[in-house]
Amino acid sequence: MQTAPAIRTTRLLLRAPIIEDADAIFEEYAADPTVTHYLTWLAHGSKETTASFLRAKIHGSQTRKDLSWAITARDSDRVIGMIDARFQGHRVEIGFVLGQKHWGQGYMTEATTALAEWCLGQRGIFRVWAVCDTENTGSARVLEKSHFQREGLLRRWAMHPNKSSLPQDVYVYGRVR
Ligand SMILES: CC(C)(COP(=O)(O)OP(=O)(O)OC[C@H]1O[C@@H](n2cnc3c(N)ncnc32)[C@H](O)[C@@H]1OP(=O)(O)O)[C@@H](O)C(=O)NCCC(=O)NCCS
Repeated sequence: MQTAPAIRTTRLLLRAPIIEDADAIFEEYAADPTVTHYLTWLAHGSKETTASFLRAKIHGSQTRKDLSWAITARDSDRVIGMIDARFQGHRVEIGFVLGQKHWGQGYMTEATTALAEWCLGQRGIFRVWAVCDTENTGSARVLEKSHFQREGLLRRWAMHPNKSSLPQDVYVYGRVR
């Protein structure tokens, strides 16, 4: 598997994150409890937390187990969100997050569609999939608009610690070739 290559869409550039992105990530979404409500990690309380989180992502990309792309608008290098791909044999699990002030403009559908197509274009990859909290209607809709099919319900599957200390039900979505 290669390291995260730049992926261009009509309005976005997806590129490998760098440690200098930490402040923008903290300010755009990582500390925002509304954004992190359905995520698997707690909202960050400090920029230092974001920096160490980002270092782990950059390391994951360098060791080629997990790839992360910083999402930027094509006319600005400031990070507004992140999209990740975790490779498991012929399958790739994706996850995504976007700063709240950029919601509702079709950005994540654009990023998810492009990443799914890039993944399915890689040799040996046949399935791209994701889970989302059953209450996360925005995420479910992004996946549907990105041509993923809802395949099932996984009960008590995921910990979403900003929402509850109990495991939450998720929908599983897949797109295959
Ligand atoms: C979910 C999220 C990625 C959506 O990003 P976005 O760029 O606003 O999504 P889009 O603009 O591409 O919207 C795609 C569709 O979802 C719908 N949608 C987006 N947010 C929604 C919400 N909160 N409630 C209902 N529908 C929503 C849009 O209306 C659109 O559908 P439509 O064209 O039929 O109207 C963004 O809200 C986010 O980062 N949320 C927090 C992190 C998160 O939950 N990540 C997913 C973890 S599984």
